[in-house]
Amino acid sequence: MRKLRLGVMISGSGTNLQALIDACAAADYPAQIQVVISNRPDVRGLDRAAQADLTAITIDHKDFDDKESFEDAVHQCLSDHDVELVCLAGFMRLLTSTFVNRWRDRLINIHPSLLPSYKGLHTHARALEDGVRFHGCTIHYVRPEMDNGPIIMQAAIPIATDETEESLIAKTLTYEHKMYPAAVKLIAEGKVRASGNKVAFKDTDMGDEGIISPLP
Ligand code: GAR
Repeated sequence: MRKLRLGVMISGSGTNLQALIDACAAADYPAQIQVVISNRPDVRGLDRAAQADLTAITIDHKDFDDKESFEDAVHQCLSDHDVELVCLAGFMRLLTSTFVNRWRDRLINIHPSLLPSYKGLHTHARALEDGVRFHGCTIHYVRPEMDNGPIIMQAAIPIATDETEESLIAKTLTYEHKMYPAAVKLIAEGKVRASGNKVAFKDTDMGDEGIISPLP
């Protein structure tokens, strides 16, 4: 079976990387991880990659004079490993438009909010502060503007009355871990593609159930 060749970019604990590793372990999953790149040394995600016998490479941004040379090294590494789709999985550096445009429509990101709400950092705390009834997470194609680009998949997560930042982070991550492998599968199967500022779908089941919180 043909497998889409992934490059996964991380900066930290790598639980989303783990979700992709676990999905790729199934013989009938249509993607495989070619390389894991971390911009930070000694992070837990690198251990996860090593444990799964993956090629894991640290490209520490601090070793480079500027962002361009750092990104050139990342680009070279992805190209050397024949990567077809780059998955940002908790990769916490903003990428320049040069890099993003080089990988246009072959670069996706996961973000812990219902975009376009709550771009940037501390999304869960900000949602709680605002008292919104739903938080969520989003997988999208990357465009040069931060946390922007055609939306592939989202989960809406009800916020409980006794929700804390910690509980909301944990709850959101469980949805992230379900969604990332599912979104990559859709791409690998040719069921989604970026079309203008949106995504076009083919043969996908959207469901028609809304979620209401609190339940009426
Ligand atoms: C995840 O919640 C991911 O959505 C978020 O960082 C966490 C990484 O966790 N990404 C961003 O905020 C990107 N803007 P992980 O390293 O355990 O996958």
